[in-house]
Amino acid sequence: DSSYQNIVVETRGRVGLITLNRPKALNALNSQTMEEVVAAARAFDREPGIGAILLSGSEKAFAAGADIKEMSSQAYSEMYLADWFAHWDNFTRVRTPTIAAVSGYALGGGCELAMMCDVLIAADTAQFGQPEIDLGVLPGMGGSQRLTRAVGKAKAMDMILTGRRMDAAEAERSGLVSRVVAADELADKAFEVAETISTRSLVASLAAKEAVNAAFETTLDQGVLFERRVFHAAFATEDQKEGMSAFAEKRKAEFKHR
Ligand code: CAA
Repeated sequence: DSSYQNIVVETRGRVGLITLNRPKALNALNSQTMEEVVAAARAFDREPGIGAILLSGSEKAFAAGADIKEMSSQAYSEMYLADWFAHWDNFTRVRTPTIAAVSGYALGGGCELAMMCDVLIAADTAQFGQPEIDLGVLPGMGGSQRLTRAVGKAKAMDMILTGRRMDAAEAERSGLVSRVVAADELADKAFEVAETISTRSLVASLAAKEAVNAAFETTLDQGVLFERRVFHAAFATEDQKEGMSAFAEKRKAEFKHR
């Protein structure tokens, strides 16, 4: 869509691709960029022909943070009244599975945007960090919450209080990312993952995402009950009949995504 200025949006098969494209600012996330990311993700979310959304940056930077230049002279009342970053969190309301392909810097808001994605794949060059403390502030796009849930209190406190960076190996060891791949293979490997996800039953994958996310919002008992009810509901779909018949008939399932 040519109406976007700071992102490039494409469709490849059932995968919606969003590429951050503000190279001069290392993809720093200003309001315009994040409004575009949210709008593009929501548009893909409304299309049943899209089964996964792949979010990428450049080789050097996934994103080097929220745009410091845009924020630096803001007053408290302006930040508060605008509820700065609140709208950006709408990215997490997208129901379609989202995959972040991270190469190079994922700092501050860049790390936080990556953590808003469902699957996080890193190039071996990836550097994660929450350096806001060096700017006299703290994470503002969910870092203190999502990093803590992802890697635990010890590492989250260490990263957020010192501002140090985590390389790809440490990020994988700590559970921040699910896979690390060679930098020159990131685009292909991340696309493969997105494509695999996108070809499965759409109802099943949206429901699975909802169920995993419930693990962060509910008790174990409530979460397991929610999962079981949604599992039962899957038996109302054509895709369940197709998936289970295909298994019995020893063939590959052809999901109709309904
Ligand atoms: N905001 C605005 N502009 C940024 C930026 C950011 N977060 N990060 C980089 N840029 C700009 C630089 O100002 C520079 O622009 P100019 O050429 O106009 O000076 C351009 O991108 C290239 O950056 P560098 O010259 O600094 O590149 P480098 O290779 O020397 O260093 C870097 C790379 C280590 C990532 C360095 O750019 C850096 O430290 N960036 C800031 C990282 C940061 O503090 N991020 C947190 C931001 S606050 C935040 O995100 C709040 C939140 O919780 C949401």
